Amino acid sequence: MDNLIEIAKKKAGIAAVDEFVKDGMVLGIGSGSTVVYAVNRLIERTKQEGLKVVCIPTSFQSTQLIVNGGLTLGDLSQFPKIDVDIDGADEVDENLNLIKGGGGCLLQEKIVAFNSEKLVIVADYRKNSKILGEKWKKGIPIEVIPLAYVPLMNQMEKLGGSPFLRLAEKKAGPLITDNGNFILDVDFGEISDPKKLNQKIKMLSGVVETGLFIGMANKVYFGQQDGTLDQKI
Ligand code: A5P
Repeated sequence: MDNLIEIAKKKAGIAAVDEFVKDGMVLGIGSGSTVVYAVNRLIERTKQEGLKVVCIPTSFQSTQLIVNGGLTLGDLSQFPKIDVDIDGADEVDENLNLIKGGGGCLLQEKIVAFNSEKLVIVADYRKNSKILGEKWKKGIPIEVIPLAYVPLMNQMEKLGGSPFLRLAEKKAGPLITDNGNFILDVDFGEISDPKKLNQKIKMLSGVVETGLFIGMANKVYFGQQDGTLDQKI
């Protein structure tokens, strides 16, 4: 089972790099476990083809992947326009809206995606849904300023959500994001109007960013259990 998931992730990662990456591009490099396969393919192609690309990271993790892989690291102040951003997702609905942030990296991911001409998502078959919240049951990750987390939990309840403060795995206390913030995972059940919900959450003072990526993705690759590939455009 686990192996089938890894095969599916690899299939998606390779396909995205092979279809979208061209010499001279500025690339966004997303975060999570599926993106690792895309980065590995990128490293392979830079060696085989002498491909030259600049990579803009979306997290501490993706900075490490870029640096350790010998790829060229850049940032948004040098390269404010990104050609293609390749990233993972926790769930994808039928309109290519996404839930992201399961790995805690949503803020930089959204900034990079917002400044990219194309956002290409790599995922395995478990992430493909009709409606957000149908399969991803851990809630929408929302990055918040620490001092506001309690009033924000109350506000999330007023919006109909059940909020949980995400805790660190190996320390007693909250998870701290790459940007020094907390994450609230807020369960809204199945989300019929993700755009409206995103707007409402973003109005709340202390919310830095949400893990709802609305109308941003251009293409999604889903690796399948049988080793084939599915796509949503
Ligand atoms: C990181 O916070 C996330 O947005 C990831 O891109 C997302 O959780 C997908 O990760 P996996 O590829 O590990 O499932």
